[in-house]
Amino acid sequence: MQQSLSARAAGRPNLAGATVYLKAERQAVPRAYFDHNATTPVDNRVLDAMLPYYRHVYGNASSVHGFGQSARQGVERARRQVAEELGCAARDLVFTSGGTESDNLAVFGTVRAARGRNPHVITSRIEHPAVLNACQQLEREGVDVTYLDVRPDGVVAPSAVKAALRPETALVTVMHASNEVGTLQPIREIGAITREAGVLFHVDGVQSFGKVPTDVDDLGVDLFSLSAHKIYGPKGAGALFVRRGVQLEKVQYGGKHERDRRPGTENVPGIVGLGTAAHLAGSDREAEAQRVGRLRDRLEQGVLRSVPESHLNCATADRLPTTSSIRFDHVESEPLLISLDLQGFAVSSGSACSSGTAEPSHVLSAVGLSREQAKSTLRFSLGRQTDAEQVDSLLALLPGIVARLRALSPAWAGPA
Ligand SMILES: Cc1ncc(COP(=O)(O)O)c(C=O)c1O
Repeated sequence: MQQSLSARAAGRPNLAGATVYLKAERQAVPRAYFDHNATTPVDNRVLDAMLPYYRHVYGNASSVHGFGQSARQGVERARRQVAEELGCAARDLVFTSGGTESDNLAVFGTVRAARGRNPHVITSRIEHPAVLNACQQLEREGVDVTYLDVRPDGVVAPSAVKAALRPETALVTVMHASNEVGTLQPIREIGAITREAGVLFHVDGVQSFGKVPTDVDDLGVDLFSLSAHKIYGPKGAGALFVRRGVQLEKVQYGGKHERDRRPGTENVPGIVGLGTAAHLAGSDREAEAQRVGRLRDRLEQGVLRSVPESHLNCATADRLPTTSSIRFDHVESEPLLISLDLQGFAVSSGSACSSGTAEPSHVLSAVGLSREQAKSTLRFSLGRQTDAEQVDSLLALLPGIVARLRALSPAWAGPA
């Protein structure tokens, strides 16, 4: 109770009960967030744009009266803002509840629309569960799915896509940027192949949108998923770009919202937040990519220099400027993550969806890491608040923590 009162008095969110918050209060450690691929904090400018849609503009965007029409204006402005970042027409966007729903709508919507043609689907082994598990469900429904291996640098070879195509292939779905290892896939090259073959191409762009160029015409994609909470917007809002002419079967049934593609009363504040977040990300995307890319390089070089037997996963591939996947031989990532957390540094041992599971990450296994290597990998994902001081503080701590944990490991006999 004392805690919640003091938190409120300080004007901060009342997070009494949140262990992270309590820990920070008690230990007064500097906190640095290196887990932006899991989610990002909501930008104050995004929150400011959203609040009126909770407080005043609360109409249903489908209502004909003024309250509804004001909400509709917010939704349509957001649609234009997101479309601007994708280089598409606003009407080609469907608002959803986030990346998972966008991926599901793309995968099931296109394949079910191809019903009667005994469709075949091509995807990769490093996709997010939102795509992989959707594909596995398709298999249970009798659809044939090819899961492409990736090269050891974490990249899907366009030639592998071409080789897997069949006359009955209905969909190729490959992510733009890996949430775990940060590798960027050769989307343009794959898009050229699918276009030539007349096959639909869906891209999970949840981790790339707002961070690297995502013009859908330039990339040659037919469907593109994105999510607000990866770009300093709210959780529970996302969108799917659907190229005009693409047949999409509904996956949910209800009203005729979103041009009869996604039923349900629109999450107006969330959509407004997504639009603002997209606009902000687009307005300084290149400068921010360079700034954060320099910090990522500083982090990677510092770790590799100061921690013996540390290795950068997928080092040779084109990668997101925000993401480093580093393995520390002979240390398990879980105690490493916990030790860092106790010192105020939030990192991840894989994706947020898989951390806490006993199995090594399917992505790290797919890029050729052994079980041990996969289980000694940490993901550092940087973002807007990351600065050189945070990186240097992390670098000052990490070698000591790794050395301490290695000293406890029977497998560690000193640097090779
Ligand atoms: C590549 C990728 N796809 C899809 C998702 C799911 O997005 P959401 O959390 O908005 O459902 C995520 C989230 O981690 C992701 O990283």
